[in-house]
Amino acid sequence: MTTVLEVPAYEVRLARAGDEDAICDVCREGFAVSSQGLLPPATIERQADAYYDPARVRREVATAGEAIEWQGYVVAVSESGGVLGAAGGGVTGPGVGTVYVLYLRPPLRGRGIGTALLDFVTDQQEAAGATEQWVSVTEGNDLGIPFYVARGFVVRERVPFVTADDGTVEAHSLRMSRTI
Ligand SMILES: CC(C)(COP(=O)(O)OP(=O)(O)OC[C@H]1O[C@@H](n2cnc3c(N)ncnc32)[C@H](O)[C@@H]1OP(=O)(O)O)[C@@H](O)C(=O)NCCC(=O)NCCS
Repeated sequence: MTTVLEVPAYEVRLARAGDEDAICDVCREGFAVSSQGLLPPATIERQADAYYDPARVRREVATAGEAIEWQGYVVAVSESGGVLGAAGGGVTGPGVGTVYVLYLRPPLRGRGIGTALLDFVTDQQEAAGATEQWVSVTEGNDLGIPFYVARGFVVRERVPFVTADDGTVEAHSLRMSRTI
């Protein structure tokens, strides 16, 4: 049974020192839930360990905005200080924004918090000159793709994502974009 929580009052802001462990927690959980059945369990574990490692996230929070390619983690934070969701992106080419990460505590899905996080990242990218925005989502991710479609993204390309040692492609990513 899914527990549905009431949406607490929250603000969306740039992440700061002290948020890192909660960011790792939210992202690991969101990545695992949305990848279940799509990626081999060992791959989920390996990628979560690589990307949502507290030391790495501490560096990424500390260096936010030093280069426009990485404009920093953005968090939705409740009044009591709990991190409800996290996102992050940057401007990765002339006029091109990329969303690297967007995850929410699963029981809070569908209440507008993901849109609020995406809006914050989009404002950052527009301020840095982006006029289009890209995101990569694992093919079959029914917790992510319908959200991006609802926000105006269109699938542009299907590319290999996870390749086994023998060269077999185990999962594909969909590259989606929209005009901003
Ligand atoms: C993707 C995610 C961050 C969206 O956040 P959210 O707070 O649930 O989304 P919102 O409530 O702001 O907006 C939901 C919109 O998407 C639409 N939607 C359709 N199917 C949906 C689905 N399966 N999941 C979420 N939204 C869906 C809703 O109708 C709504 O559009 P509307 O406002 O025009 O009606 C969140 O659902 C999540 O963490 N998903 C799992 C992790 C994931 O897949 N992340 C993306 C990997 S790149």
